[in-house]
Amino acid sequence: MDKEYEETGKIPLIGSAFPKMVVQTSHGMKKLPMDYQGKWFVLFSHPADFTPVCTTEFVSFSRHYDDFQALNTELIGLSMDQVFSHIKWVDWIKENIGDEIKFPIIADHGECARKLGMLHAKATNTVRAVFIVDPKGKIRAILYYPAEIGRNMDEILRMMKAFQVATKHDVAIPANWPNNELFGDHVIVPPATDVKTAKERLESKDHECLDWWMCHKKLD
Ligand code: BEZ
Repeated sequence: MDKEYEETGKIPLIGSAFPKMVVQTSHGMKKLPMDYQGKWFVLFSHPADFTPVCTTEFVSFSRHYDDFQALNTELIGLSMDQVFSHIKWVDWIKENIGDEIKFPIIADHGECARKLGMLHAKATNTVRAVFIVDPKGKIRAILYYPAEIGRNMDEILRMMKAFQVATKHDVAIPANWPNNELFGDHVIVPPATDVKTAKERLESKDHECLDWWMCHKKLD
């Protein structure tokens, strides 16, 4: 485990390197983030195996698995259940619902959960956390949901698409993209930070602007 987090008790934030750790999963031992170098990964925790909301989430992740793969993104689950429980639960989902869970699930004893701030106020089970980590092992987004509310996989997928578009085209992504109320599927041109660029923004034919600091464009 990374010394920085072990010694200070700090939780990694957006922009930090994902803490190095060796974890036991239903697909064997994995080294994070090294084993996923060159790929994005979504690490998500759930409160417990064999619980209804968590089961709906796993089925939903499973049905979006190919969409994540198409975005060079691996999924990794985590809870503080034993690996035997993960194996039995995955079997139960296959036998009773028919969905195959193709991604590994970490069997954590609390070490990983504590490092990632997944155990909230007096909780003995992990909350529904999502860490999105880029191909260089940097944390790019963190979401926390309470036990009683299942996550929206479409939003997690939208974030994966948005990251890849934003990085490739050096743009920002508006609310509800690609169905934004003001700009539809257009993306945001990062605001000008000097007078000359601000003036050019309003004159350029490459994009449309409401003002020099609010310009948007359609991607080809
Ligand atoms: C569930 O997955 O159904 C659940 C788990 C923990 C608390 C509440 C609901």
